[in-house]
Amino acid sequence: MIRLTIDGVVQEAASGERLIDVINRAGVQISQVCYHPQLGPIQTCDTCMVETNGQLVRACATGVSAGMEISTKSEKAGAAQREAFDRILTNHVLYCTVCDNNNGNCTVHNTERLLGIEHQPIPFHSKPYEEDHSNPFYRYDPQQCILCGRCVEACQNVQVNETLSINWEDPHPRVLWDGGSTIGESSCVSCGHCITVCPCNALMEKSMLGHAGFLTALPKTTLSSMIDVVKGVEPETGYGAILKLSEAESHMRELRIRRTKTVCTYCGVGCSFDVWTKDRHILKVEPLDGPTNGISTCVKGKFGWDFVNSPDRLTKPLIREGGKFREASWDEALDLVARKFAEIKAKNGPDSLAFVSSSKCTNEESYLMQKLARAVIGTNNMDNCSRYCQAPATQGLFRTVGYGGDSGSIRDIENAGLVIIIGSNTAESHPVLATRVKRAHKLRGQKLIVSDLREHEMAKRADLFLHPKPGTDLVWLSAVTRYLLDNGMANTKFLDQWVNGLAEYKKSLAPFTMEFAARACGLSEDTLKKVAHMIVEADGVCILWAMGVTQHSMGSDTSTAISNLLLITGNYMRTGTGAYPLRGHNNVQGASDHGAMPNFLPGYQHVDDPEVRSRFQSGWNVELPSTKGLDNHEMIDAIHQGTLKAMYLFGEEISLVDSNANFVGDGLSKLEFFVAQDIFFSHTCQFADVVLPASPSLEKEGTFTSTERRIQRLYEVFEPLEGSRPDWRIIQDVANRLGAKWEYQHPSEIYREIASLTPLFAGVTYERLEGFKSLHWPVAKDGTDQPLLFTKQFAFPDGKARLFPLSLTETTDQPNAEFDLHLNNGRLLEHFHEGNMTYRSEGIREKTPDTFVEVSPELARERGIQSGTWVQLTSRYGHVRVRALVTDRVQGKELYMPMNSSESPVNRLTSSHTDAATNTPAYKETSVHMDVLPEIGESPLPRINSRFGHPTPQRGVEVERKWNRSDYSLPGNRLVQVQTR
Ligand code: SF4
Ligand code: SF4
Ligand code: SF4
Ligand code: FES
Repeated sequence: MIRLTIDGVVQEAASGERLIDVINRAGVQISQVCYHPQLGPIQTCDTCMVETNGQLVRACATGVSAGMEISTKSEKAGAAQREAFDRILTNHVLYCTVCDNNNGNCTVHNTERLLGIEHQPIPFHSKPYEEDHSNPFYRYDPQQCILCGRCVEACQNVQVNETLSINWEDPHPRVLWDGGSTIGESSCVSCGHCITVCPCNALMEKSMLGHAGFLTALPKTTLSSMIDVVKGVEPETGYGAILKLSEAESHMRELRIRRTKTVCTYCGVGCSFDVWTKDRHILKVEPLDGPTNGISTCVKGKFGWDFVNSPDRLTKPLIREGGKFREASWDEALDLVARKFAEIKAKNGPDSLAFVSSSKCTNEESYLMQKLARAVIGTNNMDNCSRYCQAPATQGLFRTVGYGGDSGSIRDIENAGLVIIIGSNTAESHPVLATRVKRAHKLRGQKLIVSDLREHEMAKRADLFLHPKPGTDLVWLSAVTRYLLDNGMANTKFLDQWVNGLAEYKKSLAPFTMEFAARACGLSEDTLKKVAHMIVEADGVCILWAMGVTQHSMGSDTSTAISNLLLITGNYMRTGTGAYPLRGHNNVQGASDHGAMPNFLPGYQHVDDPEVRSRFQSGWNVELPSTKGLDNHEMIDAIHQGTLKAMYLFGEEISLVDSNANFVGDGLSKLEFFVAQDIFFSHTCQFADVVLPASPSLEKEGTFTSTERRIQRLYEVFEPLEGSRPDWRIIQDVANRLGAKWEYQHPSEIYREIASLTPLFAGVTYERLEGFKSLHWPVAKDGTDQPLLFTKQFAFPDGKARLFPLSLTETTDQPNAEFDLHLNNGRLLEHFHEGNMTYRSEGIREKTPDTFVEVSPELARERGIQSGTWVQLTSRYGHVRVRALVTDRVQGKELYMPMNSSESPVNRLTSSHTDAATNTPAYKETSVHMDVLPEIGESPLPRINSRFGHPTPQRGVEVERKWNRSDYSLPGNRLVQVQTR
């Protein structure tokens, strides 16, 4: 720590800290238009000028040193600040009263008030550009753009989409998309970073325009004349009077605009943000304080919320009668559910019923669902969709390090010297997490290795891209591990101190020679040796993986191989190291954590452990079943076999997302009684006997747990749409009709019970999670959490990790002469899964209207296919018709199909083969035959999709180019009279 003086008062700071941060911490008010702590110094606005030793410096770009004397208010500093801001106003008209950005947080408005400028010596200059409305979600108004460059910095160096730049050399600089395209035709992925950081109204969400203010919905001509009036009276009245009016209007807005914190309902990254609403209209999503994401979102979290107010929402329970559904009252529907469950249980026993929880719903809801299954019905037939994706990763980590979650937080990934991504299209599936890797790679020199079948964005950015043959990651990972051991490159100190089982594990590596791996994986030995050397040379290695690994018949073993490799190289127990299975859904981690599994009570406590069971039995005052129940996969088999008669499922599109969808659908239609609970009449609802209308995340309270094991609260943005109910209430209603006598009034009461029974969450309370606060499990009773796991020991009784021996497994469903193409599948950035929510967003539909199958250019040439050609894909299990998209993201005979379709779901093609240890379907092991159909349609991806754009990567806003302009000079060096109040 050092000491310095700011305006005569001594302050403490860390040596080298940004002066502006010290000034802000001290509570000294100073203008700083372009500075945003999450962007760092951009130095475009010059409004933060301060004086030190008679010199003017930019406070945002100055590091502090001991003994510095700073004046923020000297005559020289004040004049420079005012002159700088006056220059800003040449680019911006202050028509705040009729501006949708006049909400108390407009930086330009607030700086005007702070500096008290009355009149502008330099007049406003209009720019020769029109507004750009070509993106469905936001618009750019060059006339109001103050050229601060925050948006450019955010796009280039936080989101790292590298779309934005400023043409500093132009007589009229402006923000450019792809160097001069319209926004709609550019590479912009609509993540919203730029809009979020824009300090004024130049970039705005269309959902705000005409809605936020009292006078902003006026017709454009009326607005323009009002703006002219403002400009006209300004020389007479000065800005003081004009601002008073706008501030009164801004205060009035506070009465009708609500800002409510929530957590994103889409992927497992766990972004949190405020949702601004006026009645049931979403004005905007504003990220800022989220512990994971800060200013970041992706298109889904920022703009994908139209589904909440969709007219398709279910608002009445439905009962099937004579092959048709009819509307029913809640009482009638719930009575029927309870009566049928009780009858089926009485006749066939509790294990003839099964329960499926939702990874989209809250922890509290998963907890109640498993409590209903276990404590009320008496069965462990309980699962959630982590079975379809995450279970193998959890298994691999349970085997080796003892906890089935990410080793650290996203911050720990940022700190790695080398990130290895295996089987994950991170930029599309976990977009905000990917931004942190892209940023560290671009700005900090972090190295990146990607192993994938597709050359997706992360693969294109990688220092080394591996394209192994499908299903062979286990082989190359084990061969690299063996090579490290054989060549004395393992971390023996770490192994001696922290790891058991080396000898046996080494024996299991015998088949994994470099020669074998090169042959089996189709990679050169040199490439594999390069991987090994990059790993040992890196200061910290994090391995990220997803469904390209787990959805294989050896998914658990490959996940284990990843962890084994990290142990051999000592890449655990410190920041910048560890294993990161990227969780798919917003709460897929939490659903499993909270007991929605056939073998675990909440907190991964075994159902067959008498001590655990007795704790829950006394907590719940019931007898509990002691043998593992059926998982999702086994449930479908049990229906076909006639032993499973009834199912209760909520928030889960099982008939489309489970593998071998035709077989699953047949199974569901055989159920004696099936209850589906959802916000829409999903494809799965077609098989139901009773459909119950639930509420989405914006209409309830509770907690989600993200991929970082981070538990966060969500608050009620809207009341439940009339007729729908939050899932926890519905589950409680069902339980109570079966005699449970639950009396939860609020999800916080449910969490109190969870914490009392589950050591992993002992210290989790709603108070400790208030607002944007969060906790990473395990959470001790005193509230201490663990963002980074294993800092003191591994989660086994002796504190040591375990190397787990592995053997070779062949992939299933391999190509042959008939099914000659390999079909891979996964997500798209814009859509979530089958698209039940995202297709209801008009903007997303406009940009990404349909699914498709990606075909390599060489295969397209061979088969006479172009983008838009209809093809029929036939596997051993079913067929779908779909349009082709020719792209070099895929190679040779490998196809890729995104999963976002309910008309042509890829899972009609996938098999019932599973990972041996977890029963996770081997979705990624599918072979198909492709028939080229005579019809040729439009390309399934329209020209306005961001994938057709041409990004313009640069270092950032490149302010030096502004400084090099002949008309630029540092403010404060020439005499400008700026009149103040
Ligand atoms: S990708 Fe688009 S929305 Fe995201 S920061 Fe860049 S320009 Fe803005
Ligand atoms: S559009 Fe960009 S450069 Fe213009 S004011 Fe907004 S953030 Fe600044
Ligand atoms: S979908 Fe994922 S990355 Fe996108 S905003 Fe939501 S949590 Fe963040
Ligand atoms: S805040 Fe320092 S130059 Fe803009």
